[in-house]
Amino acid sequence: MSAFIDTLLGKHTLRTPLWLMRQAGRYLPEYRALREKAGSFMGLALTPDYATEVTLQPVRRFGMDAAILFSDILIVPYALGLDLTFAEGEGPRLSTVRNLAEIKQKLSLGSVLEKSAPVFAAVKQIAQSLPEYADLIGFAGSPWTIAAYMVEGRGSDSFALAKHWAYTDPENFDALIDIITDATITYLAAQIDAGASTVQLFDSWAALLDADGFRAYSIAPTRKIVTALKKQYPHVPIIGFPREVSLDLLVEYATQTGVDGLSVGWATDIGKVAAQIPPHITLQGNLDPHRLLIGGQQMVDTARRLVDGMTGRRYIFNLGHGVIKETPPEHVAALVDTVHR
Ligand code: CP3
Repeated sequence: MSAFIDTLLGKHTLRTPLWLMRQAGRYLPEYRALREKAGSFMGLALTPDYATEVTLQPVRRFGMDAAILFSDILIVPYALGLDLTFAEGEGPRLSTVRNLAEIKQKLSLGSVLEKSAPVFAAVKQIAQSLPEYADLIGFAGSPWTIAAYMVEGRGSDSFALAKHWAYTDPENFDALIDIITDATITYLAAQIDAGASTVQLFDSWAALLDADGFRAYSIAPTRKIVTALKKQYPHVPIIGFPREVSLDLLVEYATQTGVDGLSVGWATDIGKVAAQIPPHITLQGNLDPHRLLIGGQQMVDTARRLVDGMTGRRYIFNLGHGVIKETPPEHVAALVDTVHR
């Protein structure tokens, strides 16, 4: 048992556990080397030996308390039947789904496990090769964020097409959310079966929705996923990350979805979150990744204040979002050292 899982289970730990969103990635020279060898992001993510190696790289170098599976949230739409590529420097490109006919024609729940089989093979290998002090976090995107990419076909500042569909034709948009929700349950259950000891749901674009939209497309499907997984795996902790939603909605999400952990973005005062959610829910986050990019005394002071402020509370150190690719690896080493001391 490790400090990471012990914290989620409410046991006393000797140190504050730490991992970082996007801890495996382009800021590490050893990642860039293997990425080049693999030739493409998909080649890297869907070759179990490569995915295993890249997952372990940051844990080996810095001694984080958890590894996060090296994969991507867009593997679920790929496994449902969409084409997916990551163009160099341009981000993801997906074939799109924009109406009920296309849901029926392009998506199939039956293909999910087969198309994502290399992911579970990687999970199995990683679980076997992790150091004893570290846990393996599996993950998936949340249905709203996944739907947004599936409708738009690429990244966007507003995901206007997805919002338009959700707000004007909720019945058919619900059908899209439902199929993603079911695929996500199947996909996360298979990660747990293969050896993931915790799972995280990334709702990266949750803050684009209004309050009603957030309740319908973030809280409700998350509750469905959590309920289904808890039935099968009552002891596997689930962490939710509805990125940068308002404090009110964050509290609703924490209390209504059944998650064990809540990841908090950097624009929120985590002390205020702590004051408003039940103490059995573990908090995670919320250092601004730019503080890590810049490094030095401001980073050390902010990280210490964050850890001190969470004393007596179930808390996992993390960033408020992913490591920025220009971040010097030495800054990461200094941050891990600060938090572990
Ligand atoms: O170390 C880890 O965090 C594990 C692996 C991981 C990746 N993506 C690898 C990746 C995880 C957990 C993700 C989640 C993810 N992917 C999210 C949710 C978290 C968040 O950032 O809000 C989202 C929205 C995506 C979708 C995605 N994947 C985008 C928009 C991009 C392009 C932008 C970019 O950073 O390049 C990706 C590609 C991607 N996923 C990379 C990595 C390391 C970089 C691509 C490369 O190496 O070529």
